Amino acid sequence: MMIVAGTSHPELAREVAACLGTETAQVRIETFPDGEIGVQILEDVRGREVFVFQSPARRPNHFLMELLILVDALKRASARSITAVIPYYAYARQDRRDKGRVPITARLTADLLEKAGVSRVVTMDLHTEQIQGFFDIPVDHLYARPLFVEALKGQSGVIVSPDVGSNRMARKFAEDLKLDLAMIDKRRLGGRNVEINALIGDVDGKQAILVDDLCSTGGTLAAAAQFCKKKGAKRVLAVVTHSLLQKPHIEGVDQLWVTNSIPPLKGVQVVSIAPMLAAAMGHK
Ligand code: R5P
Repeated sequence: MMIVAGTSHPELAREVAACLGTETAQVRIETFPDGEIGVQILEDVRGREVFVFQSPARRPNHFLMELLILVDALKRASARSITAVIPYYAYARQDRRDKGRVPITARLTADLLEKAGVSRVVTMDLHTEQIQGFFDIPVDHLYARPLFVEALKGQSGVIVSPDVGSNRMARKFAEDLKLDLAMIDKRRLGGRNVEINALIGDVDGKQAILVDDLCSTGGTLAAAAQFCKKKGAKRVLAVVTHSLLQKPHIEGVDQLWVTNSIPPLKGVQVVSIAPMLAAAMGHK
């Protein structure tokens, strides 16, 4: 087998390779002066089972295109199979036509990956689970929850879902940690603004543990954390699988836990997904 790292998050690919007792393959990846990407795989590929790592975060268009180009190079070099390991699946939030004349980018991305030559996908905490059905190839969908549950063992408090989309995830956290559950009714006013109308449940005098698959601007978590404190929460801890944050601090959040699906910022608590990815690759 062979592990190829895209430039979005080579540290994670190297960590997974180390778990499997190997190293990432030699690859040349360059950006030409006009912005186009060129790659060359510097090792023999013919007949090999290849895993390509990319987390198209923070520069999604660039990293997605780089992934497609890497896959094309591997396909044309006669790889036996190409598994795209995409811990953070970008463009997932546009997953349905809920208003007129909008795209379904989660499906478009799936089509592009398949057309390029990907034969299997390994990913984690998809924004919505039905995205698995956008592919006609096998998708191994992993959950970060067991890793967080292990890290949070012994914590007291109430699990809080910051919006309706996170209710299912929050319920499972509450079950696993044997904690109570509360839910927030959030309305999105724009890309950077959200409004909180209500909290169903009781956080008074307790620690609120917010759980979400993704934070981007941090607006959702900030609004939810401040609302919890208004309702009497004495402390707020937030647990997020994919953090696109540009700065580690979120107003109202006392402690933030993330995975390294995306290169984590300094100052946040990190749970590594590398051993889980290594196990899912089937070579451990
Ligand atoms: C929404 O459906 C997601 O689960 C996140 O809550 C949302 O994408 C977070 O975005 P932001 O951090 O910009 O509020």
